[in-house]
Amino acid sequence: MSGGRNLVRLGILLSGRGSNFLAIAESIRQGRLKGAEIDVVISNVPDAGGLKIAEELGLASKVFASTGRKRAEHDADMLTCLQAHKVDLVCLAGYMRLLSPDFIAAFPNRILNIHPSLLPAFPGLDAQRQAFDYGVNVAGCTVHFVDDHLDHGPIVLQRAIPVLDSDDAHSLSARILAEEHLAYTEGIGRVVSGEYAILGRRFVKRTH
Ligand code: GAR
Repeated sequence: MSGGRNLVRLGILLSGRGSNFLAIAESIRQGRLKGAEIDVVISNVPDAGGLKIAEELGLASKVFASTGRKRAEHDADMLTCLQAHKVDLVCLAGYMRLLSPDFIAAFPNRILNIHPSLLPAFPGLDAQRQAFDYGVNVAGCTVHFVDDHLDHGPIVLQRAIPVLDSDDAHSLSARILAEEHLAYTEGIGRVVSGEYAILGRRFVKRTH
């Protein structure tokens, strides 16, 4: 994705506390995620904690409240904003709303999501509790491209952790979240490097 010396411009979409967004921002600041910068943070929830983080970090942020709005119209507003900021790669960081087909088509294989399960297991809401209640021995998270189906596009990377006998859904979620923070930086880094190809559903490193 990085063609030369120019930084890949990230647009973050979120709906909540924004810990994954903060992890990405910290990775960039500390030099662990090279070749990228965050250009705008968009929330569909006016009081999302992530907006406060954006303000503290001095990053541009914008609210497009989605309640009561048609998805296509709401997403068109977000798209205009992302294009005005010349965003190359959209990173969903706890963005809890489906995206419209037109929005997804505007960023083909240039929207990433992080999901707190080992997909294709447990798509949708409350994935960590779904996994815990199902009784899995291994849980984790997935960084993947976004396509027209829920939690479905090509997988960039996954990180797995054991489910402990002492776990409850809360402690499991917390340990998955710690993995998410590492995984998202690594996944974005792989995409930003541009050293990959998507073969069918497979994300493979390109070697020279
Ligand atoms: C994270 O666990 C993320 O994986 C999940 O929401 C949480 C957001 O936390 N996303 C989804 O479930 C998307 N399907 P954060 O706001 O602290 O990053």
